[in-house]
Amino acid sequence: MKLNPRRIKVGLELTSKCNLRCGMCPLPVLRRPYEDMVWPMVEKAEREIHGAGLKLKWLHEMGEPLLYARIDDAIRLFPEASLSTNGLVLTEEIGAKLLASPLKRIRICVDSVNPEVYPQLRTGGDFDKLVVLTGAFLKQAKGHPIRIEIQKMRSRLTLEETVDDFRALFDLKKYRNARVIEKTCEALDVNEETDLHGKFYGCVQGAFFTWVVIFADGRVTHCCYDAHGDQVLGDLKTQSLNEILDSPRFAAMQDDFARRDFTNLPRCAECFKHGGESHTFNDVLTRVQNLPGVAKDVVRKVIDVRYRT
Ligand SMILES: C[S@@+](CC[C@H](N)C(=O)[O-])C[C@H]1O[C@@H](n2cnc3c(N)ncnc32)[C@H](O)[C@@H]1O
Ligand code: SF4
Repeated sequence: MKLNPRRIKVGLELTSKCNLRCGMCPLPVLRRPYEDMVWPMVEKAEREIHGAGLKLKWLHEMGEPLLYARIDDAIRLFPEASLSTNGLVLTEEIGAKLLASPLKRIRICVDSVNPEVYPQLRTGGDFDKLVVLTGAFLKQAKGHPIRIEIQKMRSRLTLEETVDDFRALFDLKKYRNARVIEKTCEALDVNEETDLHGKFYGCVQGAFFTWVVIFADGRVTHCCYDAHGDQVLGDLKTQSLNEILDSPRFAAMQDDFARRDFTNLPRCAECFKHGGESHTFNDVLTRVQNLPGVAKDVVRKVIDVRYRT
């Protein structure tokens, strides 16, 4: 299969272990082992990803990447990749490791400025500790070229919170390399309506093959919503990425999807549980997924209105 490197995003799960059990995340009920990627697999992934002309977007799928002992070595292999963290192990020592590495962008998921709401999103997280660690990292990284994103999660529980609340909490006017970004609490866990998010209609990614995600054990899936590995294409332990993407198995899966036959596509079946593209809302979502970042953000704000209903 010919890859279009500009359309395909890549995620590498350095570890599926996590120090939290967040309410909106599939990790607490992950149907895969909690494990670290062995170092030779990280090196093989580097050869395969870059050899295919792809760039790594994120150093995670599930799990907390800052728990990975060789995180700085991994960043050196993938200087183009970004790192998303729950921030709770971002100590001064780890901060120093990151700032000495070529990492260009780090996202710290604060999600809520309300100490009552925070633990409902970030189960197991200590809000006060996060505020202290994040504040200390901002100071440590002041004047450094790294881009620091403070994540604000738009969910049913955070509708009243504003970007300015986050800016004020961390005194962001002092840090030119930091900004607040907003993320929608999508149905990554289940496609039902929950206290945190609404339900979805159809393919959340907008297309069947938008991602190459490499799990900690080396298996590869085609969608970052396939957290449990229900739709694995192949295994880097025994195959090359090219073999995986050229395999009859992947071709058959794409065929099934095109016919909307979900018998062998349980994750896609979850996305289409409430109907698919016949629903106008799915068309809107698909277009949103394909928009550039800023425009996507504006449209998502409008879509958030459904959380209020
Ligand atoms: C799965 S976490 C892994 C990296 C790291 N542990 C963290 O929390 O940033 C990556 C991202 O997925 C997001 N996430 C988790 N569950 C989600 C959901 N149901 N919808 C949307 N994003 C979700 C988190 O907010 C985080 O930004
Ligand atoms: S969102 Fe991140 S921190 Fe929370 S449980 Fe999932 S992987 Fe862990």
